[in-house]
Amino acid sequence: MSETEDLFNNSKYQSYKLKKYFKVYDEIFAPYKNKKITFVEIGVLNGGSLFIWKKFFGENARIIGIDMNPDCKKFEKDGFEIFIGDQSDPIFWENFFKEVGQIDLILDDGGHTNKQQIITVACCVPNINDGGMVVVEDTHTSYMKEFSNPQKYSFINFSKKLIDDMNYNLYLGLNKFKYSLNKYIYSIQFFEGFALFKINRNLCVENELVDNNAERANHWDYRYGEESKITYLKKIHIIRKLITKIIYYKNVLHNKIETFKSKKYFK
Ligand SMILES: C[S@@+](CC[C@H](N)C(=O)[O-])C[C@H]1O[C@@H](n2cnc3c(N)ncnc32)[C@H](O)[C@@H]1O
Repeated sequence: MSETEDLFNNSKYQSYKLKKYFKVYDEIFAPYKNKKITFVEIGVLNGGSLFIWKKFFGENARIIGIDMNPDCKKFEKDGFEIFIGDQSDPIFWENFFKEVGQIDLILDDGGHTNKQQIITVACCVPNINDGGMVVVEDTHTSYMKEFSNPQKYSFINFSKKLIDDMNYNLYLGLNKFKYSLNKYIYSIQFFEGFALFKINRNLCVENELVDNNAERANHWDYRYGEESKITYLKKIHIIRKLITKIIYYKNVLHNKIETFKSKKYFK
């Protein structure tokens, strides 16, 4: 059995989770076990999960719970820090980080609306230590009618936009979004029901194309199609430039046609 599932079954207070989540917790949180970390969970409810995290991360971990319900304060007597507030309020986050300082991990198991999830990522990402993560749970709400989804501004579409942003290569001058978390997020990962944003400012350095300038075999790059009969002409600079341009446009057209053939994978 998974370690977190075992702790779940033996927790002093009630918790409810989707069964498949335990293996994910085991995997993503394992590197932080027995470390001096600050872990935050949004959504305390009956307190059960706080006890799971305390046991899982060990005595060195600082465990903080956030909930809108002031009754959750009662778990302070068990050694947890409890903050009462609304995860969809940026002012709440501003005050929270002023008081708590930077944190390592945050797990969002709060209200699960688009706004709550988006504001949580936007406000928390800049306040995570390098090597830490923002984990958003129950991402399936992005497809649920009750949450007025699916729609353009769902949380999952916000996550997809962050993926787009990461892949628009700065070296090529394609940075096209006004709102960006690129200087914090170096990796985004998905599991069923989870989105993970891994933070490391040092790894978010500006990109550049590098050449090791070692021995060149002068092999033809098949990205441009098979080497043509006109190879000898390429030795002449101006002709080479012209050929490169023609090949470039030929490729744009070719890729358009080939991409269209992949349409079935988007259905
Ligand atoms: C799914 S329950 C949390 C379950 C708990 N983590 C567990 O594993 O047992 C969701 C909790 O989020 C709280 N909540 C809902 N909307 C919130 C918001 N906007 N800000 C903070 N907490 C919120 C609710 O009061 C509720 O206690």
